[in-house]
Formats: sequence, structure tokens, C-alpha cells
Amino acid sequence: MPFKPSATKTVRAGINSEPLFGDVVAPVHLSTTFAFKEFAEVPEHDYTRASNPTRALLGRAIADLEGGYDAVVTASGMAAIAMVIEAFVPVGSLVVAPHDCYGGTWRLLDSYARKGRLQVEFLDLATPADIPPAALVIVESPSNPLLRLTDIAAVTAAAHAQGALVLADNTFATPMNCQPISLGVDLVVHSATKYLAGHSDVVLGAVVSARAELHEELAFWGKNIGVTAGPIDCYLGLRGLRTLHLRFPAAEANAQAIAADLRGQPEVQQVYYPGFGAIVSFELADTDAVRAFTDGLTTMSLAESLGGVETLIAHPATMTHSAMPDDVRAAAGITDGLLRLSVGIEDLGDLLADIHSGLARIGLR
Ligand SMILES: Cc1ncc(COP(=O)(O)O)c(C=O)c1O
Repeated sequence: MPFKPSATKTVRAGINSEPLFGDVVAPVHLSTTFAFKEFAEVPEHDYTRASNPTRALLGRAIADLEGGYDAVVTASGMAAIAMVIEAFVPVGSLVVAPHDCYGGTWRLLDSYARKGRLQVEFLDLATPADIPPAALVIVESPSNPLLRLTDIAAVTAAAHAQGALVLADNTFATPMNCQPISLGVDLVVHSATKYLAGHSDVVLGAVVSARAELHEELAFWGKNIGVTAGPIDCYLGLRGLRTLHLRFPAAEANAQAIAADLRGQPEVQQVYYPGFGAIVSFELADTDAVRAFTDGLTTMSLAESLGGVETLIAHPATMTHSAMPDDVRAAAGITDGLLRLSVGIEDLGDLLADIHSGLARIGLR
């Protein structure tokens, strides 16, 4: 059953966790190594690549939000996805992923397949699809950048029937809008760089496991290949996470108003917005229209990434999804006129005024 993520748990993650001086906010544990109190008695944390107190606090906080057992926090979202593959995809076995998945995920799977590490099938998971026998099925909902919705529970049931583990990339929805573990998935991945950390100042990833044995395996592989995150980054992640419950609804309210406004604009051919979340994608006529719109924006930056308090605008064809060959991108519905807005928490009136000026520039070109 879906549940409401606890703001209290997140806000209090790590609070009062240091008995020595009574720090209210958990300190950053920079030490790479931790002393054994007694011979052959391995402490809770022994070496930071394997385990670190600051990282452990962030992992537990993210797992609490997702309703999972625990989380391994990694140096990036891509490190998190690569770690899942190392842990759970035997050499040569099949991974299924959405045909319109995040470009970096597409590139990772495609390049692994080219090296013979695994096989990959990119399927349209937003419409009912037959799931083949696979080691791992990846779902993204909503998808990036077209915000198409996948029936996570149905795909998960079909994948489980084929013996696959299911990994949900919950970066866009965040646990505020979707808790994939309550829908049956085994693993939840985040680019915590985005909404969880929320301030565009740290690159981080996380994999939440539904069950202890999955977490133990991931913790082993995180340590084995050394993709775990550093303590300062984890501290920034923990600090950002504390305000997710305030930032996300504020950005979402702005996004809802912007999506409604864009729907009434003649220069906008199509608006993609599922009714929730803070990402709005929209279609202009062509690259010239995109250039006219983006040249001169004052309240939003033309930049990759998303999920920060500031508004960003991206052109997927030349930015986030440029790794996809033209035909693959076309099949995924990503055109040259498509723009993706990561709506922030600025004043709505300022954002709308900037958007209206941008649309007016298209008419003048
Ligand atoms: C949906 C999604 N998954 C994964 C990633 C990769 O995360 P990172 O950039 O933190 O490696 C991104 C990055 O944009 C993303 O948007």
C-alpha cells in the first residue's frame, strides 16, 4: 500500500546521533579508517569505502522515505545503476529497460551489451508489453523526458513471473509521489543529485533494497568496486533531504501552473505533463524556435540536470539524450523541438513572464 513518507523521520535523520559533544546535526566523518577497539573485533565501520557513519545516516534516511530495508549510497546515480548490474546481472544475461529511458542509462546498457557483458532489450514499457525472461527489468515512471507513465505493479508482476528482479528509477517521481517498493519492486534507484539533495551542488546516487539479502549483496558490491559516496557529499545529501517535503510540493505547484499556461500558447505544439511532479516538457516547432526561446531567458538556466531549487531548461536532443543515435531518439519520441523544464521554487509570476518573453521571441525570428 502507498504510504506518506515521514517528514519527521527525514528531518530528524542523524539529529542527536553523536553522544560525545551532543552535536544536534551529525558531523561529517572524514576519517578513512576506524580503530578496532579490540583485536579481531570488527567495528560497525572499519574503512570508509566499505562503510562510513555519515553515509550510513543518509542511506537509512533515503530507505525510510522509500519504505525499504536500507540503501547503499553511491558516488552518482550512474554508479548506482552500474552497481546493481554488477551485483545482480550474470555475464551474458538479459536486461530489459524502457526504450525512452534516461540517456545515460541507455548508454550504459548499450555499451555493456557491445562489450558482451550483458544483453539488452529496450521495450516500450508504458504500453502493456510482454516481458521476456531476464535477470533485471528496469522501469522509470514517469519517463525522461516525455513523462510517460508505466504501470509499475503490472510490469513488476510480469517481470517476477519471468524470474527477473525489478529496479525502479524513482528520480523523477521521488518518494513524495511514488513508492515503488509498495508496488512490489525489489530495488529503487535514485540520482540523488536531483530532488533528494535538491540544490545542484552534489552528485550522488542511492539504491534502496526491499529486502535485507538484496542490501547485503549491494553493500558487498559497492565496497568491492568502490563506487560508494564520500562523506562530504553524503553530508550535503543529508542536509538537502531534510527539506524535500517543502521543496518538492512548491516546485510541483509551479510546474502545474506552467503546464496549464503552456497548453494555451500557440507556439507550443504539445505539452507533456502527467499532472504531478515538477518536470514539464514541451514541443516547439524546430531547433530555430528552441534557439529563439532559450536565447535571452533570465530566470532559468540552459543546463543539464534537474531537481534543484532553481529552474533549469534542457534540450534533450543535444544534451541529456545526445548519446542516443538519431533513429533511437526518434523512436523514443525525442524531437529537435523538445524542451524539458525542471521547474524550481522561484516566484511563479517571474517564471511565467520569462516564458512568455521567450515565446514572443519565436514570433520575431
Ligand atoms: C532518471 C535518471 N536516472 C539516473 C540519472 C543518473 O544520475 P547521475 O547524473 O547522478 O549519475 C539521471 C541523471 O540525469 C536521471 O535523470
